[in-house]
Amino acid sequence: MPLSPTSLASPRHELPASGLRLLGVHLRRGATQVFSGLDLVLSEQRIGLIGDNGAGKTSLLRLLCGLEQAQSGQVLLGGEDLHQVRARRPGLVGLMFQNPDDQIIFPTVEEELALGLRPAGLSRQAARGKARALLAERGLADWAPRAVAGLSQGQRQQVCWLSLLIAAPGVLLLDEPFASLDLPGQAALARDIAAAPQQILVSTHVLDHVRDFERVLWLDKGQIRADGPGQAVCTAYEADVAQRLGQSRSTQDGQG
Ligand SMILES: Nc1ncnc2c1ncn2[C@@H]1O[C@H](COP(=O)(O)OP(=O)(O)O)[C@@H](O)[C@H]1O
Ligand SMILES: [Mg+2]
Repeated sequence: MPLSPTSLASPRHELPASGLRLLGVHLRRGATQVFSGLDLVLSEQRIGLIGDNGAGKTSLLRLLCGLEQAQSGQVLLGGEDLHQVRARRPGLVGLMFQNPDDQIIFPTVEEELALGLRPAGLSRQAARGKARALLAERGLADWAPRAVAGLSQGQRQQVCWLSLLIAAPGVLLLDEPFASLDLPGQAALARDIAAAPQQILVSTHVLDHVRDFERVLWLDKGQIRADGPGQAVCTAYEADVAQRLGQSRSTQDGQG
């Protein structure tokens, strides 16, 4: 996927300057209390989210794009309730889902990419033309008519990223976007993320992709365990994982 200035055009949806904020957010999902009074001001251009499975990374991203509703507390965008802002300007915050099958709606790649352009007022035909142009730019022209269901998981993840890129929301929320990508795909996505003009939040278990970010949040059982420059927070998380592994090994040895 060669990088091109055309596909990384300015966001169509400019963000209010004061960005995203959570104030005293309590979130329950099913039987799980995920967040109990979470406060965050998210103003940096690149923010990484790390932490064990179940820590709350996806829940946080879903809150920030309005897919989850907090039981109490506030999620604000530009100082205003996120749901009210989204009702007026639905394309402002875009989520790339952890599972591509939760995101993709249309049967073909071209239709899926064109979907992101319809809110911009383009005709169906013009939107599909732009989608084909983006694919061609990235050496993927032959993907346009292909059935999404006939692509591999990693290829579907690429389609999800291109959909977000073409829709150009003001803030991009990427939920484990590297998970199914091959090494060239990961390198291309990392390059796209570095070049994109928007604010981007990325959750990942591949720490090298966020280690150089100005800010990384380490989530642990719904709480912020560490919050700071990527290098320091990633190192702290790795040290904690190593310590836990050591403890579980010594317990096993003791039992043996
Ligand atoms: N759809 C759901 N229904 C009920 N509980 C959920 C659902 N999705 C996640 N959870 C619970 O919410 C907590 C946080 O999960 P999640 O945000 O998906 O974590 P992560 O993305 O860090 O792995 C976990 O305890 C998980 O079991
Ligand atoms: Mg998750």
